[in-house]
Amino acid sequence: MADSILDRFKEADEVEASVDTGKKVKIGIIGTGWIAEAHVKNYLRCPDVEIVAAADLVPGKAEKFCKDNGIDGIRLYPDHKSMIDAEELDAVSVCTYNRTHAECSIYALEHGVNVLLEKPMCVTLDEAVEIIKAEKKSGKILSIGFQPRFDENMKMLKAVVESGELGQIYYIQTGGGRRRGIPTPYGTSFIEDKTAGLGALADIGCYSLDMVLNAIGYPKPLTVSGYTSAFFGKDPGYYPTHPEYAKVFGVDDFAAAFIRLEGGIVLDFRISWAMNMDTAGDTLILGTKAGLRIPSTECWNGSIGGPLKIYKTLAGSEVETEIPKRTNKEDNFYNKIRLFVDAVKYGKPAPVPSSQILYNQAIIDGIARSAKAGKEIVLDIPEV
Ligand SMILES: NC(=O)c1ccc[n+]([C@@H]2O[C@H](COP(=O)([O-])OP(=O)(O)OC[C@H]3O[C@@H](n4cnc5c(N)ncnc54)[C@H](O)[C@@H]3O)[C@@H](O)[C@H]2O)c1
Repeated sequence: MADSILDRFKEADEVEASVDTGKKVKIGIIGTGWIAEAHVKNYLRCPDVEIVAAADLVPGKAEKFCKDNGIDGIRLYPDHKSMIDAEELDAVSVCTYNRTHAECSIYALEHGVNVLLEKPMCVTLDEAVEIIKAEKKSGKILSIGFQPRFDENMKMLKAVVESGELGQIYYIQTGGGRRRGIPTPYGTSFIEDKTAGLGALADIGCYSLDMVLNAIGYPKPLTVSGYTSAFFGKDPGYYPTHPEYAKVFGVDDFAAAFIRLEGGIVLDFRISWAMNMDTAGDTLILGTKAGLRIPSTECWNGSIGGPLKIYKTLAGSEVETEIPKRTNKEDNFYNKIRLFVDAVKYGKPAPVPSSQILYNQAIIDGIARSAKAGKEIVLDIPEV
């Protein structure tokens, strides 16, 4: 591979070289659950950031959270609206469950506050469109929380595709999936319809989609034939210590789909929180000149499980080239936070733009709707 391509990975992420602490970026945290911890931990690493407020619907939760996470004494609110109304915030982290992503983000943007929104962007395509309308109207930054984007191996994958080494890409298989991994360590917010809205399909399916769609430049999705099921989530036997979880399980634990993308590419997608199989296979990108294998991981969370491998024919022989796994200079989650803060401070583009994730959400929404309808559907994605 050309040195110019490899050299791109020696460069650090595009974070500002020095941090101007003259004016602190004032942050509010919306939702003080599991993932909010990672946001706080990484904001605290930024000397130019001040976490000034936090909000949670559950009485007493934000207070305990702040004590546990070293931000005791900041102002606390019972919901996102009261916090945004009362504070002069530069930005919020929306760390709520999926069902409230849209209302929290839209309210913040409408009040001139920049937003770092956790993945998945939201539950439905309609919500995504409304969020982007609010973003456009506000002129503020909206970045979606896909930290695997900042992984060096993920960047390598994108660069391999962009190098043209694979030729014309025509088929992609995404293989993320867990044998046993319904996320209930902190209760049921991932598995109830009223909080999560969608299950594995959105929770980790969004990562699989972003991995490959970001690599190929996010072509527009055209049609989707989707399937979802929930055999494990609804089985009391799945949860030896919490059989009652089966009763409230209202989302999918497995999804599969066949998606047609603009440019004649087809995407064969499967994702699982639970299945009777160790892996749904590796991610494969097939091109006319070469194929690329991206090893899956045991607990699928959007990361790459091993060295990328390129398969091609060279001088008449079938050859494989392994690209050694790269180590990150910086934590991916820190980069997600730091690059968002830089975008807010210096008016840079959103690190993970909503215009791309709109297509990710359109596919997720399309799979859910197609599964319900039991047939292929044409995606109608509004221009926003
Ligand atoms: N990027 C990652 O690696 C990663 C990892 C885990 C979760 N997540 C995402 O983060 C989100 C939250 O997940 P979690 O595990 O922290 O959930 P959680 O249920 O532990 O916490 C969510 C919190 O948001 C609060 N909340 C909901 N609506 C609110 C509102 N309007 N105002 C104030 N508080 C509100 C809830 O009361 C709850 O305490 C999910 O969308 C999930 O997909 C991302």
